[in-house]
Amino acid sequence: MKNFPGSESMPTLAILDEDSSSSGDDTPTTTPNPRARTTVAHAASMADMAGLSLSDDDDSSEEGERRAPRANTVPPHMGHKKVLVTGGAGFVGSNVAEQLLARGDDVVIVDEMNDYYDVRIKENNLRRLREMYPEDKRLAIYRGDICDEDFMLQLFEKERPQWVCHMAARAGVRPSIQDPFVYIHSNIRGTTHLMELSHKFGVKNFVFASSSSVYGGSKSTFFSEDENVDNPVSPYAASKKACELLAYTYHHLYNLNVSGLRFFTVYGPRGRPDMAPFKFIDRVSRGLELQQFGDGSSSRDYTYIDDIVDGVLRAIDRPNKYEMFNLGKGSGTSLKEFLDIVQSHVGKKAIIKIMPDQPGDVPYTCADVSKAYDLLGYRATVPFSEGIRRTVDWYMNDYGKNSGSCIEPETQANGMGRAPSFAEIREAVNA
Ligand SMILES: NC(=O)c1ccc[n+]([C@@H]2O[C@H](COP(=O)([O-])OP(=O)(O)OC[C@H]3O[C@@H](n4cnc5c(N)ncnc54)[C@H](O)[C@@H]3O)[C@@H](O)[C@H]2O)c1
Repeated sequence: MKNFPGSESMPTLAILDEDSSSSGDDTPTTTPNPRARTTVAHAASMADMAGLSLSDDDDSSEEGERRAPRANTVPPHMGHKKVLVTGGAGFVGSNVAEQLLARGDDVVIVDEMNDYYDVRIKENNLRRLREMYPEDKRLAIYRGDICDEDFMLQLFEKERPQWVCHMAARAGVRPSIQDPFVYIHSNIRGTTHLMELSHKFGVKNFVFASSSSVYGGSKSTFFSEDENVDNPVSPYAASKKACELLAYTYHHLYNLNVSGLRFFTVYGPRGRPDMAPFKFIDRVSRGLELQQFGDGSSSRDYTYIDDIVDGVLRAIDRPNKYEMFNLGKGSGTSLKEFLDIVQSHVGKKAIIKIMPDQPGDVPYTCADVSKAYDLLGYRATVPFSEGIRRTVDWYMNDYGKNSGSCIEPETQANGMGRAPSFAEIREAVNA
């Protein structure tokens, strides 16, 4: 790992939390998004993922009439790229880096390796990439803070990336309420700094991670990019909204091509340990109690990591001028179904304590993914049950071995904001 002088880590956060304000999911029996007709195969793209299986319970293939994506889309750039992946040691960033390398692109990773969650997980992500490409000059890894001006200037001067995939951020809703300033630093200052460098170094396309949390105050069921998102309800959500606004400014002033991707709760192998899917699998596996708020019918949109990576690569390849995209599965899963699926794949019964509904909880929320389909050809293909099966498989067979069993005791599972927690996890009483 390369270290430039002056790079420093940010302070730590004590409480781990879910990134997105939603903590839901989706499964076979869920209602498809009426606005997103998702029956046509992906548009041509270098981002096509290998090994994504459509199984019987894929709920996205039966609904609505068939139609092609809009014709006036930006054609995908098919040539070789050198892509700067910030946050490349993290969950989404490391998966994006892996796929970029697999298709032949060069990848420059920058990550400060903060301890928002166990650093060994991030080290393991980087080790994995390094082991996959041991001699390869196509992968460069730098440790440092994206806000460090000297460090980042040197990095841009040396590497000259023409494509930026900015995944680095402080995630987590609750911790942002406890310590907003670290979010202002990494998310707002960090993103601004990267856009400044991107415009100065003539970057062709700047893609960054926003979040479904920006829909904070929305009353809708299907969240569309057309909605007004002026009511973020946590510093984290506000920081993502601020990035979207600043991105517009950089597009307006300098013609920087920018796409912001609003991820809906991402899960999968090597997923973040502070998020509900990991925690549910972990708690059920270890026989620890889960608290369920309400009758289990509330439902959320969860997105499998391979689908998110596919969407990110599609956005990188298509230098839209300025667009925000929802990247979700486009359908939801109820909490009850979620827990049933986890139990069946883990092979253990969950210890569930039913609690009264939480005030303000919303029954069903999910991404309208029709714009991402139209402009990027994006369509999530991994059914929830299959995604959880793969995640459980990883948890059982790889997680302990490769991460050194670094499970931290959790205090709670879900984020705050638009969709208050429908489940909470406490330390075991029956373990
Ligand atoms: N995972 C989700 O469900 C989800 C949902 C919505 C949005 N997002 C967004 O997607 C992006 C990736 O999320 P993730 O789940 O992979 O999170 P992650 O925490 O696993 O990865 C983020 C990485 O960024 C690094 N980082 C943070 N601040 C930095 C800084 N100042 N300089 C350099 N590196 C820094 C961290 O060390 C970490 O490795 C984030 O922007 C997050 O806000 C994620």
